[in-house]
Amino acid sequence: MEKDRKLIIAGNWKMNKTVAEARDLAKGLRMELANIKDIDVVVCPAFTAIGEVSKEIIESDIRLGAQNMSEQGGGAYTGEISALMLKEFIVRYVILGHSERRQFQNESDELINKKVIAAHGASMKPILCVGETLEQREAGEMENVISTQVKGCLAGLSNSQMEETIIAYEPVWAIGTGKTATSEQAQEVHAFIRAQVVDLFDEATARRVRIQYGGSVKPGNARELMGQPDVDGALVGGASLEVRSFSDIVKNCLN
Ligand code: 13P
Repeated sequence: MEKDRKLIIAGNWKMNKTVAEARDLAKGLRMELANIKDIDVVVCPAFTAIGEVSKEIIESDIRLGAQNMSEQGGGAYTGEISALMLKEFIVRYVILGHSERRQFQNESDELINKKVIAAHGASMKPILCVGETLEQREAGEMENVISTQVKGCLAGLSNSQMEETIIAYEPVWAIGTGKTATSEQAQEVHAFIRAQVVDLFDEATARRVRIQYGGSVKPGNARELMGQPDVDGALVGGASLEVRSFSDIVKNCLN
């Protein structure tokens, strides 16, 4: 599976795991994946477990991500968490604009764009999520929806910031449903997203941007998805909650 871009496989633990459970999962992953250098492996626990998970993986090659952060630098924003606070725990990645936050917290492209810019301001790499619902796909609106999200959320970035941004294509209909996009469907949208990045930035920048696929990724389908020319990694939900399934996904994607 030779590609110029290094694969990045991230586990989004969502609102799961107590601190003790998260520590156990992180420890198990450290045992299985500590020395994997050919793939960037990232875990994204809930905020409450970030400190413990950070300690557990700090000396390994596994990197830490958060699931959200505030677009504000600090101050009177009850319940929010800033980039600076995350950086204390050596958080290097942050998932932004996940479809669950777009749906349940009404996050707009404009707000997500501010968060993407704030993440870069703190030298954290955003994992920007985009994706269409089933209704949008069936109504033939997929390209329009994805293009609006990509353009709205990435506005104002420099080329070098864009290169350090990861885009995650997560078709909403494939999240937690067991319905994975076929590798051809994923490739088609990934190529479309890369073409949007060419339009917004340039060819050389777009070639360096990593685009993950997310939605019912499992050990059995990961390798085929990663074999597509524009699929550069995975954002894994359910299957990232157990040591065996997540480490098998990563190992199955090694050359
Ligand atoms: P599942 O892997 O559970 O479908 O979740 C995907 C996802 O939303 C990752 O961010």
